Amino acid sequence: MQSDIQERPLTMFAPRRLAHANVFVTDLEESLTFYSAVCGMTEVFREPGIKAIFLSNGSSHHDFAIMGTDNEPRIGKDGHVQIPSGRGTHPGLNHLGWEMQNEKVLVDAYRRALASGVDVKRTTDHGMSHSIYLFDPEQNFLEFYADATADWKGFYAKSQNQLISGHWDPLAQEPSTAPLFNADFQPEFVKEAPVHPRQIARATLIVQDFERARTFYRDVAGLEQIHLDSDRGIAVLAGSNREPNLALFAARDGEVCGLHHLGFELVDDVERERLENDLQRINASPVETIDTSDKSSVVLRSPDGLLLEFFQQKNGGRWSPGAMRSDRDLHLI
Ligand SMILES: [Fe+2]
Repeated sequence: MQSDIQERPLTMFAPRRLAHANVFVTDLEESLTFYSAVCGMTEVFREPGIKAIFLSNGSSHHDFAIMGTDNEPRIGKDGHVQIPSGRGTHPGLNHLGWEMQNEKVLVDAYRRALASGVDVKRTTDHGMSHSIYLFDPEQNFLEFYADATADWKGFYAKSQNQLISGHWDPLAQEPSTAPLFNADFQPEFVKEAPVHPRQIARATLIVQDFERARTFYRDVAGLEQIHLDSDRGIAVLAGSNREPNLALFAARDGEVCGLHHLGFELVDDVERERLENDLQRINASPVETIDTSDKSSVVLRSPDGLLLEFFQQKNGGRWSPGAMRSDRDLHLI
């Protein structure tokens, strides 16, 4: 009889962390104002050819990207299809970006993905990173990437407003083993904004088939399950950073599946009075503010209705299941 380990597909990307989210937005400029002036992220790069704007808090080339909706496909360099026809016509998640330790770890996982029959949709050279894209079982799109340069600011400076993404053959040459991410970065945020994020930290997905999604994120994405409540249909998974990067919630009757919200870690505690004054000044109102023994946070809604939680963990920064408010519709962890 085979062991459980032998029966599992051995793709196991095993990324370090959730490093960015890329979302389609109805109005690119309106969303840019929201994500910078309200959410405190800094615009770092524009790629008008694919209607994309990248925002960062300093940890990497982007914590967040927005792409304007369009009925047309988005074509990068050399005819590389980044968004095929029929996709990106409505606001919502484009993809979640998972950062790998280095390119060799990414390419090794790619070889295993091919060997185990995973349907890899696209491999892309973004200039500052190399990426492999695939869907989870519920058609949420995922990117696993390794940085190709530590100097992403220099790369952006010389590439501003140009198309940067083309085809990448992961097997064409010996992959680099250099870890090029910067774990020791200075957070950069818009000081005048009500919230000051340090980096993106979490995504919560509502899923139709909880067990199938959980198995995929464990065996193919290679995340570590750090909390499971089967009765209530909640799983929390971590990258190798051991942080709760992904929460899966089993859909209740009538609940819409897909991305529910994104979580951003703040550089400082939520100062209630300042936050309320700042939000009032720009006519923004929070969906919810939370202050428990586990965390303080504020939940905002984007112009397209996406929920974003900005949180500061308490208890010395360690997450515990006690932080979850799964009894509420907000599915906050
Ligand atoms: Fe991406």
